[in-house]
Amino acid sequence: MLILGIETSCDETAAALVERGRRVRSSIVASQIDDHRPYGGVVPEIAGRKHLENLVPVTQAALADAGVQPSEVRAVAVTSSPGLMGALLVGTSFGKALALGWGVPLIEVNHLHAHALAILLAKSRPRFPYLALVVSGGHTTLFRVDSPLSLGVLGQTRDDAAGEVLDKVAKFLGLGYPGGPAIDRLAAGANVHAVRFPRGLQRAATFDFSFSGLKTAVVNHALGTRRVEGRLNDQPVPALSDRQLRDLVASFQEAVVDTLVGTTLRAAAAEGLATVVVSGGVAANSRLREKMSLQGAAAGLRVLFPEPGLCTDNAAMIAAAAWHLARRGRFAGLDLRPAAKMKPGVC
Ligand code: KG4
Ligand code: ZN
Repeated sequence: MLILGIETSCDETAAALVERGRRVRSSIVASQIDDHRPYGGVVPEIAGRKHLENLVPVTQAALADAGVQPSEVRAVAVTSSPGLMGALLVGTSFGKALALGWGVPLIEVNHLHAHALAILLAKSRPRFPYLALVVSGGHTTLFRVDSPLSLGVLGQTRDDAAGEVLDKVAKFLGLGYPGGPAIDRLAAGANVHAVRFPRGLQRAATFDFSFSGLKTAVVNHALGTRRVEGRLNDQPVPALSDRQLRDLVASFQEAVVDTLVGTTLRAAAAEGLATVVVSGGVAANSRLREKMSLQGAAAGLRVLFPEPGLCTDNAAMIAAAAWHLARRGRFAGLDLRPAAKMKPGVC
């Protein structure tokens, strides 16, 4: 069964064709990073308008790349939650129109569940059950994955997502957008012990995350004796030497990584899970990959990262998750409504 996946929950417009939830025939992603860069973050209104411009050419490219005619597509899958409301509305409306026009069923997919299942498209697939850490600019969520359609949330961030805190601190330090890759590069070889930053909720009896205290600690440290006045976005870029900046960034990144690794490994032990899968944009972080792999192996765990193109937002993971839903007859009606927050019960 060939499914067309459509993904528009944030700032990537993506379309992909996936056969039987396993074989990626094509996967096209149009990034909007350049459109949002001048504003230092994603502007929801711009995201929606760009999806509108990009969806038709991206879908045409996915069909052409796979050498597939619309008549061969058996279902259309769309991300319906969570995400930016305007962006989701554009994607779901487009998906409905295609399903109606082509006379095929529509499937709604939860973006986070799709991230947690993206590893099923990799060469090396995990055995069920496994623990999935989905860590991106919008989310930091730990799932217990018992089967493709049986996922439970074990913990999530109580404030900022890990990628969001990397992006906000990078913006404050004048490192540009997106901040995660810039911090990753700057931190390489710098002193991770230069500043001891807090690791949120590490001693708490929870698998939730918290990063806002860390963000404040970094800002206060960088500003020294000068107090924060007004909003974080209005602060002037602190004057730091190259060395100070690199050590600060490395110490900050280390705190983010330790928090993610610490909570994930605690959750794996408590749940008796032997495999950990890390996905989402922040899974590209070299220090996170290194520490999760080393500490996971030391704890006897198998740690897997989907390849970069499956970690960041893409539509192949949407089409793959949709196949499992289609097999159980879980199709959506044309009255499908997107939701900015996670819709319960939608895989
Ligand atoms: O999954 P994604 O492409 O989009 C969503 O947010 O859904 O993730 C983007 C996030 C951004 O916060 C970006 O700064 C972060 O992933 N990111 C990284 C790296 N590459 C991307 N964070 C740390 N290190 C990286 N190498
Ligand atoms: Zn995502």
